[in-house]
Amino acid sequence: MKKSLKDYNFKGKRVLVRVDFNVPLEDGKVTDTNRIEAALPTIKFLANEDAKVILMSHLGRPKGEFKEELKLDPVGKELANLLNKKVVKVDDCIGSEVKKAVDSMNNGDVLLLENTRFYKGEKENDPEFSKQLAENADIFVLDAFGAAHRAHASTVGVTEYLPSAAGFLLMRELNALGDVMEDPESPFVAIMGGAKISGKISVIENLLDKVDFILTGGGIANTFLKAQGYEVGESLVEDDKLQVARDLISKAREKGVILLLPKDVIIADRFDKEAEAKEVSVDQIPSDWQILDSGGTQTLEEYKTVIMNAKTVIWNGPIGVFEFDKFAKGTNEIAKALAESDAKTVIGGGESAAAVKKAGLTDKMTHVSTGGGASLRFFEGKPLPAVEAIDDLK
Ligand code: 3PG
Repeated sequence: MKKSLKDYNFKGKRVLVRVDFNVPLEDGKVTDTNRIEAALPTIKFLANEDAKVILMSHLGRPKGEFKEELKLDPVGKELANLLNKKVVKVDDCIGSEVKKAVDSMNNGDVLLLENTRFYKGEKENDPEFSKQLAENADIFVLDAFGAAHRAHASTVGVTEYLPSAAGFLLMRELNALGDVMEDPESPFVAIMGGAKISGKISVIENLLDKVDFILTGGGIANTFLKAQGYEVGESLVEDDKLQVARDLISKAREKGVILLLPKDVIIADRFDKEAEAKEVSVDQIPSDWQILDSGGTQTLEEYKTVIMNAKTVIWNGPIGVFEFDKFAKGTNEIAKALAESDAKTVIGGGESAAAVKKAGLTDKMTHVSTGGGASLRFFEGKPLPAVEAIDDLK
């Protein structure tokens, strides 16, 4: 058991909170506030407890260098709106400017530091940089579930210098994901989509010991189809993973897991939102066409039947190029089926969460994770280094 917010008295304390404000930006504006909203319970709680709340996050992948377009100012504005409270934003995450800002904070104030990834020491988990991050605080709170699979200075390194606790979002995520992975009610169904099978091999392997069905879609399904000898034309396929795909199919068979591949799909004459689209059976894909949506009529019928009879469903990765309306049907129909089913539904973060949100169905799911890579690592059955680093409750 890890220490949580209940295990400290925060009154008057300088509390450094690692949040995941790695949000999409367009023209200097936050286009999806999901992750900011998800962090509000912890921030509000600490402010109400009269703590001095110092927030830090990474944004994008600036490779240890300052990048004007990856400053956290737009996030600070959005946060102030959502909190309905003043948020002071400083242009650094360590050093004298931060010290000055923290020294002038009153209890209950909220301060936002600059992108931690402007320093190389962040990704290198450099002890000196970690120490500098920790310097102006008394307690560290990890609430960045989305970054908990990263062993960086702001997620792991700082715990060497400060007493630590898990925030509300982190606890909510760990409980929801832990619940389905440790004690799933059968039938347990995993929907595995997304572009590549390579990042999900160990997830599928781990799930083979737990689930009853795996429904495949997206690039993953293309690779499985090609591995089974189907012509998939110019579809996205990982040719160096065909044997892996065959091995997964045999393992599924050995373990009695039903691994389903699409029976019919929507193909396109090119990768474009205006491409010509048609539905075909998987044995009729012309060599110069490509699959952009795994959701053909028969496939969806079969997948929906499985989902409607499930008691637990996890979903990772869209089953088509849902950003293009013509090829979004499969992904949307799966989202709708999950919304209608009585099963416990847990959606991995990243693209599947975005697809559910685009379909307006986020509220209809049991849990939509804020972490893409982090939830994948969880489904792999591997520990999250930043969670491991939090102080244990003795
Ligand atoms: C995410 O968006 O998955 C997290 O914020 C982690 O970002 P990263 O993959 O750049 O470490």
